[in-house]
Amino acid sequence: MKKIMRARVFHFPLLLTIFMIFPQVLLVQSENDDFSRQPPRPIIRTQHDRSDSDPQQVHISLVGRDHMRVTWITDDKQAPSIVEYGTEKGKYDAKARGEHTEYTYFKYSSGKIHHTKIGPLEPSTTYFYRCGGSGPEFSFKTPPSTFPIEFAVVGDLGQTEWTASTLAHVDSEDYDVFLLPGDLSYANGQQPLWDSFGRLVEPYASRRPWMVTEGNHDIEIMIPDHPQGFTAYNSRWLMPYEESGSKSNLYYSFDVAGTHIIMLGSYTKFYVESPQYKWLESDLAQVNRKKTPWVLVLLHAPWYNTNTAHQGEGEIMRQTMEKLLYKARVDLVFAGHVHAYERFTRIYRNKHNPCGPVYITIGDGGNREGLALEYLEPASPLSLYREPSFGHGRLRILNETHAYWSWHRNNDADALVADTVWLESLSTSKTCQNTVDEEATTSFVNNEL
Ligand SMILES: [Fe+2]
Repeated sequence: MKKIMRARVFHFPLLLTIFMIFPQVLLVQSENDDFSRQPPRPIIRTQHDRSDSDPQQVHISLVGRDHMRVTWITDDKQAPSIVEYGTEKGKYDAKARGEHTEYTYFKYSSGKIHHTKIGPLEPSTTYFYRCGGSGPEFSFKTPPSTFPIEFAVVGDLGQTEWTASTLAHVDSEDYDVFLLPGDLSYANGQQPLWDSFGRLVEPYASRRPWMVTEGNHDIEIMIPDHPQGFTAYNSRWLMPYEESGSKSNLYYSFDVAGTHIIMLGSYTKFYVESPQYKWLESDLAQVNRKKTPWVLVLLHAPWYNTNTAHQGEGEIMRQTMEKLLYKARVDLVFAGHVHAYERFTRIYRNKHNPCGPVYITIGDGGNREGLALEYLEPASPLSLYREPSFGHGRLRILNETHAYWSWHRNNDADALVADTVWLESLSTSKTCQNTVDEEATTSFVNNEL
């Protein structure tokens, strides 16, 4: 608290100016607590300071039960797509060769983008690795094969000074897997900003797997060359979609330590006969709650949202897919897009339902557009906590039945835990597992959004 007070005194003239220009800031502040709302901060443009053949923008992602994909970029188009790795520093007793791609976007030409799958790997083990046979050594820790496991959850990340503080806060405590529900670089077509973003996140994304899904800022449609969009996103952030039976990098699923995680695409077709819908149906039908007692879903545009920003943008997708998630007893749905934090109760069809997922909006990673400050009034009883501040979330799944969710607000240099809740998996709820008929739970229904 002392630090907050100091910051207030120091920034008083600046805050006064902001309040004069944006009086709604005062309204939000008076509604919530004694913490001053955070104005946007400048973009960080990272510099490329390695040789052409050295790897840059290194990041890793999970592939299957015991493999990792290493992705990096070289300016040198002759650099090989090999990764050498082992469990001792500087000693590489295994080697894998991968594939590569590149793309052009208007006058921009990307470097050589390497994707190399390594493994099998042991769980909860630190590996040291080198990309392309030269350059710096990196290391990562594989996730555990059983509970407990901890996920860092951050949406709408961007590459500002707030992004940097969010990432530093995430990194200040150990975790296993980074989950990002869309809007990565905010390049908005300026391709060098994808490179800058890759360099900014490398210290974190090269050490823990980053599993992402796409947001609207990742689309970058340009007619006539890129009518489908996602050229940079799909080239740079290849996810394990083939391994989960998906035909698109824009939606996929994976298992890690007793958790089944589904990444949906808010900006690719989702109507009932669409490939994504059919894939989701089939993916959910294959979930074995004895093997993966927890089921999480991530998508970009929230299905439930009481912020005035982006109202209704996830509504058609909700109406189309909500029943699938409800019947499968999905535990949690994370969304981004709205630049604020909001946690709801368990919901199905706009009403409280003990067998529906908990909905959480976590679009507060630190992007350059700033915060979504205004909320609908009066507050819905379904919305249990809402606050427009930058920050990140952590989901620690302790065992088959219990998990602890915490939201950490960025208080300048410090992360302050502002919201916490214990969660119970629906897989162990006799009421919910024995009654897949939605009518059976209507007696619990009481509140509407
Ligand atoms: Fe967005």
